[in-house]
Amino acid sequence: MRVLITGAAGQLGSDLRRLFPEALAPDRRQLSVTDPKAVEAAVRRCDVVLNCAAYNAVDAAERDPGLALAVNADGAANVALACRRAGARLIHFSTNYVFDGSGDRPFSERDRPRPLGAYARSKLEGERRVLEILPEALVVRSSGLFGAVGSAVKGGSFPERMVRRALAGERLRVVADQRLNPTYTADLAAAVADLLGGTLSGVVHLVAEGCCSYWELAVEALRLAGLEVPVEPLTTPELGAAAPRPLNGCLTSERLPPLRSWRAGLAAWWTAWREQEPTAVSGRS
Ligand SMILES: NC(=O)c1ccc[n+]([C@@H]2O[C@H](COP(=O)([O-])OP(=O)(O)OC[C@H]3O[C@@H](n4cnc5c(N)ncnc54)[C@H](OP(=O)(O)O)[C@@H]3O)[C@@H](O)[C@H]2O)c1
Repeated sequence: MRVLITGAAGQLGSDLRRLFPEALAPDRRQLSVTDPKAVEAAVRRCDVVLNCAAYNAVDAAERDPGLALAVNADGAANVALACRRAGARLIHFSTNYVFDGSGDRPFSERDRPRPLGAYARSKLEGERRVLEILPEALVVRSSGLFGAVGSAVKGGSFPERMVRRALAGERLRVVADQRLNPTYTADLAAAVADLLGGTLSGVVHLVAEGCCSYWELAVEALRLAGLEVPVEPLTTPELGAAAPRPLNGCLTSERLPPLRSWRAGLAAWWTAWREQEPTAVSGRS
């Protein structure tokens, strides 16, 4: 099976690359999904495409919604079209941010998306275009991804940023009213690998079991790192971010079982990250 991973240098792409060492795994400079001809040439050689390419700068997308749409919607459509032409299976990734975060129960595949910001709208449009072009595609929505290789556009994964800031002696202030299923990308990648050969199509939610606030996630990351540092809880208005975000970003699935708990995933992340960055944490924990 010949596998193509787009956006392969990102958090999820890096973990998928580890699982599929033989895969074609270009980073953005080697293959931009916004270039239809290059996408078609790359996909032509493959049986399966894992589209991890995304513009994930949620706040910056408010200032430049066109760029978010170009990558997350037009780029996704380019990949879907190339897969249709090549007869390749496509697994495309999307986000819990397609929901408006109202209510207090987790959103399932049956709930109606209502994106609040430019990033979220671009991701929903990407889902719609992918499934319109290639109804056999699988769109995997996840939430709060963190990996041993962090997201470059965000300056590392969320737990990594918390640990680094605590180690640097910075004051930590984190939103406590936005909830999510923090999902370890290595766990998501392993579950996706199991879906590759199947025929599951349409939208599925695939997240860690359990839901918590960013504040709880920060506190648990620091606990694992052995750092006794106070974390000040903030409200979303106090944080004053440019993009609106769902307060209830929790997902559930009617189609797939959840991954292991977010706490277990975070503990595994800590072990992997500590091994990868021994100098950052030397003398700690
Ligand atoms: N991060 C989260 O919390 C989260 C939550 C739910 C769902 N998701 C979704 O999960 C998927 C994977 O996210 P992630 O956290 O792994 O993101 P990530 O770490 O930001 O990785 C995305 C990758 O896509 C690359 N990219 C950007 N524009 C591209 C283009 N035009 N062509 C090809 N590659 C391009 C980026 O390269 P550069 O860094 O060089 O720009 C980056 O390596 C995305 O679909 C995302 O929307 C993420």
